[in-house]
Amino acid sequence: MEKDLHIIKPPMELIYKDELEALAQNDNYPKPSFFKLSPKMVRTFILGSNGKKLKYKVDKKEKEIIIEQKYFGNDSLIERAIITLTGNRGLMLIGEPGTAKTMLSELLTAAISGNSKNTIQGTAGITENSIKYSWNYSLLLSKGPIPEALIPSPIYVGMEKGVITRFEEITRVPSEIQDTLISIMSDKVLNIPETDSTLFAQKGFNIIATANSRDRGVNEMSSALKRRFNFETVKPIDNLKLETEIIKKESKKLLSYNDINIEINNNLVEMLAITFSELRNGVGKNGEKLEKMNSTISTAEAVSVFYLAALDAHYYDKGNISPLHIARNISGSLIKDNYDDISVLKNYFNAIVKKRGKKEKLWQDFYDSKKFVF
Ligand SMILES: Nc1ncnc2c1ncn2[C@@H]1O[C@H](COP(=O)(O)OP(=O)(O)O)[C@@H](O)[C@H]1O
Ligand SMILES: [Mg+2]
Repeated sequence: MEKDLHIIKPPMELIYKDELEALAQNDNYPKPSFFKLSPKMVRTFILGSNGKKLKYKVDKKEKEIIIEQKYFGNDSLIERAIITLTGNRGLMLIGEPGTAKTMLSELLTAAISGNSKNTIQGTAGITENSIKYSWNYSLLLSKGPIPEALIPSPIYVGMEKGVITRFEEITRVPSEIQDTLISIMSDKVLNIPETDSTLFAQKGFNIIATANSRDRGVNEMSSALKRRFNFETVKPIDNLKLETEIIKKESKKLLSYNDINIEINNNLVEMLAITFSELRNGVGKNGEKLEKMNSTISTAEAVSVFYLAALDAHYYDKGNISPLHIARNISGSLIKDNYDDISVLKNYFNAIVKKRGKKEKLWQDFYDSKKFVF
């Protein structure tokens, strides 16, 4: 456990070990044999217990815990996603970057299979072997294609152990390679001609894939493969209060990684959330018409700006986070490859931030720091 403290990002099943234990001990609901928790408890794990405390025992000691809400947005999307996984089709989460697709697939696999680490990262360079299995060449040359020489892929491991395999960014993989999945997903078998054997998938094997709608589209997926998945579109949050909450909560979590416990001013987080929502939607909160940013500006980016601002304040300014720190760290996150966005940001400051600054001190300070933005 000591060593776990130094992992940058522990897997969900480790972060939420106590929650998962409490849910399991309180689970009296119908459940497929290949699920660790019932669909109802998986739902509670992701959407929270609404402040309700669950009693559970560790080493005969009574404890209680509130299950925190981890995903904010469309509850029925979560319910449908869980039901999909009780069946025999894969789950495909598509949407813009930063909409919590990866987070959701990690939470689902942690709760259902007890293992969120069995993952393939989709890239253009993936081959059929990385989807099926490959070989340890020195063993292969000396002893031939014996089972010990076979290096299983995460799909192989999923089939063998009956756990879900996560397939991240599947649309980055060339479609002819993606199609290797078709027979695996429909027949649930994998032939290994070299050893003249067949791997039959154990119950519990399934695939949760994620795809960014801004990348090369899902349109390039073959329709045969698409039919093996149920699609769920994950939307960005468009609720100011919620986004403010998430930025605050996630920044706190990240700051604890730096062992920093810093006072977070709600109004400042809200100012950042307003800025992001206005730039994302191209509409001011009082209906003003604005330009939209070309790059995606998701909640994840807002979290990253606030986290950096807090670090900046902690290491240089005794921990007092101010609009200055937000301003100093905003363009590094927002301006990626699209330099037109600098002018979008400039116009935003000169129209909205300036005007609001006449009434509100926080926005005035933000405007006064504009030289750090562009
Ligand atoms: N609806 C949401 N509910 C909770 N957290 C969210 C939500 N949308 C974004 N986030 C935050 O943004 C982070 C980035 O999400 P991630 O899973 O990496 O996105 P994606 O895989 O869609 O690009 C999440 O870990 C979470 O902190
Ligand atoms: Mg992702």
